Amino acid sequence: MSKAIAIDGPAGAGKSTIAKRVAKELGAIYVDTGAMYRAMAVYFTRLGVDPDNEEAINAAVDGAKVTIDYVNGEQQVILNGENVNAFLRTEETGKMASKTSKYAAVRTKLVDLQRELASEKPVIMDGRDIGTVVLPDAFLKIFLTASVDARAKRRFDELTAKGEECDYEAIKKDIADRDYQDSHREVSPLKQAEDAVLLDTSNMNIDEVTDAVIKMAKEHLA
Ligand code: DC
Repeated sequence: MSKAIAIDGPAGAGKSTIAKRVAKELGAIYVDTGAMYRAMAVYFTRLGVDPDNEEAINAAVDGAKVTIDYVNGEQQVILNGENVNAFLRTEETGKMASKTSKYAAVRTKLVDLQRELASEKPVIMDGRDIGTVVLPDAFLKIFLTASVDARAKRRFDELTAKGEECDYEAIKKDIADRDYQDSHREVSPLKQAEDAVLLDTSNMNIDEVTDAVIKMAKEHLA
C-alpha cells in the first residue's frame, strides 16, 4: 500500500482546494495532475496542433518535456524549461486539455511522471484516474463530487466576486460538457474506483469536506 491519497472527481468539485488543505495538515505534497494535462494543452496550442487529429498529437508528444518543481510549497509545471503556470488556468487551456487528455500517448507520458512523484514522497494527488489507474495502491481514495448545479453556482459566485460578467446557464453547460467528455473517453475515463469513498459536497462547505477527509486519512493511518 502506497503512502498516497488519491482524490478524483469531476471539474469544479473542489478537489484542489481540499487536497491542498489536507496536504498541509498531513505534511504531504500536493500533486495537481490536471495542471500537467493543461501544460500539454498549452504545448499543443502553441504548436497549432489540431486536438481532433490523434496522429498529429502522437507525432508532437515527444517534443514536450514536462517536469514539476515546488516554490514555497506551490506546484510549478515546467514545459521544455519554461514555467507555464501563468497560462494553465484559462478556459481555452481547460477545453484543450479536456480534448487532448483522451489520447493514450499523452496519458502514458504524464502517468509515468505522476508515479515517479508518488514514489519519492507521501503525496495527495488529484485528477480523474488517480485511484483507478495511476495509484491503485493509494491507502485512501476519495471520489469527490457535487451536482452540476452546485458546481455551476460555485463557479458563478467565484467569477461574480471577481467582478467578471458571466452567464449561469453557459457555465452550467460548460461543466456538463466537460463531465461528459471526461467520463466518456476510452482511455482512463473519469470514474469512481471500487474502493473509493464517495463524498458528495453539494451541501457541504470547504471546512466540512476538509475535516471529513482528514478524519478518514487519520483513521486509515492509525
Ligand atoms: O482538473 P483540471 O480541470 O485542471 O483538468 C484539466 C483536464 O485534464 C480535464 O478536462 C481532464 C483532464 N485530466 C485527466 O484526464 N486526468 C487527470 N488525472 C487530470 C486531469
